[in-house]
Amino acid sequence: MLSEIKKLKKQIESYALSDKERLESFRLEYLSRNGKIQDMFSNIGSVPQEERGTVGKAMNEVKNRAQQRFDEAKKQLNRESSASLKATDDITLPAPPLSSGSFHPLTQTLEEMKQIFYRLGFNIADGPEIEDDFHNFTALNFPPNHPARDEQDTFFIEKNDDPEKNDLVLRTHTSPVQIRLMKEKSPPIRAIMPGRVYRNEAVTPKSYFLFHQLEALYVDTNVSVADLKETLINFAKLMFGSDVDYRIRPGFFPFTEPSLEMDIWWSRQQSGEGGKWLEILGSGMVDVNVFKAVDIDPSTYTGFAWGMGVERIAMLRHGIDDIRLFYKNDNRFLEQFN
Ligand code: DAH
Repeated sequence: MLSEIKKLKKQIESYALSDKERLESFRLEYLSRNGKIQDMFSNIGSVPQEERGTVGKAMNEVKNRAQQRFDEAKKQLNRESSASLKATDDITLPAPPLSSGSFHPLTQTLEEMKQIFYRLGFNIADGPEIEDDFHNFTALNFPPNHPARDEQDTFFIEKNDDPEKNDLVLRTHTSPVQIRLMKEKSPPIRAIMPGRVYRNEAVTPKSYFLFHQLEALYVDTNVSVADLKETLINFAKLMFGSDVDYRIRPGFFPFTEPSLEMDIWWSRQQSGEGGKWLEILGSGMVDVNVFKAVDIDPSTYTGFAWGMGVERIAMLRHGIDDIRLFYKNDNRFLEQFN
């Protein structure tokens, strides 16, 4: 038996693996289920008990060596075939085009929005996505039991029973950045604050647990509701075209008084389903209590603020009816914004 194994080993060592056909016949002859190596293993029963250890070991060595030769030759042949040029290859043919990436539609929309507000004289500011209860709620005049503080809407990072300690939350809106800005700087302030916000909401075509807002704040002497309306209308025209259909309605937010909301008409001409009003922002005149929380004198200064939904604006701009598309990373969707 041992001499047969030796013979087999010799054959395996001297087998020329010069091309893919020979590699395949080598595999069939030695490594396949009906090959010589398997055959040899099935004869082990005829080997006397006391020799089985030595014979088994020799068999395994042959098997491993055959596999090793196969793997190495395969690698080598693959390398050669991808590197070598055949006489029939036409090297003057253009290479297949590289597909180029592009900015995400939300990034593109946000960039357009920023450009509009730079033109209107706004600076940019930002703040942390993990906020404390004071900046996200209290300083914005949310009463202690306001439903927005409810665990259904807010992702809590750290919740304390002790009312003296500040809970930590994923910010539910970009409005806390207003508070940070007003504490840091004295008026006049004219800034936009774009960023990511989080809400503990069910995922549906209309809502997602994460989205983007663009907050704005303008504080100076003599800022009025007329200034706010003027700015919002200017924005809508620059973003959606001068024939945009918009409406401004009264709203309610704890941190503004009076408060306004702006809707844009979503015509859905493509689907023929008729249109509807889509809310794109909340806004208002900064509430006196907010000024007090940040030590700005409300008898000298007034201001307006707003928070707009970036996804909403991108959806209107591009006729997208499902917010989840922004977060799927599906190239078929993303490629349309190249
Ligand atoms: N923070 C509000 C929200 O997320 C939006 C908002 C409304 C922001 C009025 C404002 C504002 O700055 O003045 O629903």
